[in-house]
Amino acid sequence: MVSKVDTRCDLMLFGALGDLAQRKLFPALYQLARANLLAEGSRILAIARTETDTAGVREQLLDRLQQVIRPDEFDRSVAEAFLQRVEYQLLDFNDPDGFSALNNWRDSAHNELIVYMATPPAMYGVIARNLRTAGCCTDRTRVVVEKPIGHDLESSKVINDELGEVYRENQLFRIDHYLGKETVQNLIALRFANNLFASQWDQNHISHVEITVAEAVGIEGRWGYFDKAGQIRDMIQNHLLQLLCLIAMDPPSDLSADSIRDEKVKVLKALREITPDMMERYVVRGQYTAGTSGGQPVPGYLEEEGANRGSETETFVALKVEIDNWRWSGVPFYIRTGKRLPEKLSQIIIHFKPAPHYIFDPDQKHLANNKLIIRLQPDEGMALKILTKDQGLDKGMRLRQGPLELTFSETFDAERIPDAYERLLWEVMKGNQYLFVRRDEVEHAWRWVDRVIRNWHDSGEPPKRYAAGTWGPVASIAMITRDGRSWYEDV
Ligand code: BG6
Repeated sequence: MVSKVDTRCDLMLFGALGDLAQRKLFPALYQLARANLLAEGSRILAIARTETDTAGVREQLLDRLQQVIRPDEFDRSVAEAFLQRVEYQLLDFNDPDGFSALNNWRDSAHNELIVYMATPPAMYGVIARNLRTAGCCTDRTRVVVEKPIGHDLESSKVINDELGEVYRENQLFRIDHYLGKETVQNLIALRFANNLFASQWDQNHISHVEITVAEAVGIEGRWGYFDKAGQIRDMIQNHLLQLLCLIAMDPPSDLSADSIRDEKVKVLKALREITPDMMERYVVRGQYTAGTSGGQPVPGYLEEEGANRGSETETFVALKVEIDNWRWSGVPFYIRTGKRLPEKLSQIIIHFKPAPHYIFDPDQKHLANNKLIIRLQPDEGMALKILTKDQGLDKGMRLRQGPLELTFSETFDAERIPDAYERLLWEVMKGNQYLFVRRDEVEHAWRWVDRVIRNWHDSGEPPKRYAAGTWGPVASIAMITRDGRSWYEDV
């Protein structure tokens, strides 16, 4: 009998030779092994459709680990010992008979079973049913699935229903890898461990919030997938709405998965619908054209390899989001995300309201808002912009804005910030769901996003162009300027 805190597991990894598994999951498992967090006796079954064998897969993984892991973190003997835990199973996921081999591999007397579906979501239901038929699931089995859970509300319900036929909600671990990022988890600590912020976190004290998730990369050979999704489905429906929820949610009564997720759902339910007449002021869609990235010329979205030249899929979205509740009434959240922006940068800026009565130099009045800058990546940390007196006899009471700065790597001398997948896999092994997304979160997020997509569709408006290497269409700057504000980097 396996005890509740025992993390010893059999991990069945479907899609083990795919990009996600090779680039993220095996490196994360290696890092857990390196940190001695992979329990003695834990094993991994790599499952895919490619004709190869265990020796071939181990060899391939060793090569891949060596490429992906930083040289100072790569220890060949740890990698080789880790790979001894990996076996390969050739399997056609549609063939129920093949699944009996999986049952034979399991060590159900000692190990909890974790099933990781790193496959297209259309396969989730098939795999779940075939596992059940093969007798390969108990009510303690944990199942990890990746986004996208559907491409709209209806299709997400189909996927969730198929999974729900075989597993209960408390067995399902839906990944949004942003929730595994160290700084994203830190939002919970920042907000609920510091009374300083608790009393300031509402419409009485905050004027607006900005969330930027910018990427320098383009589509990176993923045109086929991305063109059907677009930036709103790929990034807003999940990562950005999750960040918004963590900023906007009320304090949970404890750190349990359901307490946190209940509060996030309340935020999603309170998002104001963006109606057709609001679209022009609240939403900007963009698509990149040729430009530069890192000083090099890069093609436009429509010139990428495999591109459909007439595509109107967006690679940039900016939204003004309003939350209809007491805490956030009148406080817009400006959120934007795009590919081929000038740099990789994810940050949240909380703009506090100015002091109620301003007594300093009128020329400096624009400085009088404190800002809390939460840097998610790179250079993880936080800065609180506060006002002090400028030094020097000649300065009188001139003000100066300076940061109270907390850079995690310097302040805490952290050896390394673990990758999101290390944290998430570790939480699955412990059976802790608080960093995973519950079915109703996925569905409420789709409900809100679907309406925006439907409005786009009905308007027939193509996305606005922006040159690669810029901060998106000028309309995104106009959207925030109309409210007398500006995106933080532009200040
Ligand atoms: C993924 C998206 O979920 O997140 C990608 O599908 C995107 O398009 C990626 O590039 C960004 O993740 P990160 O961790 O690099 O910010």
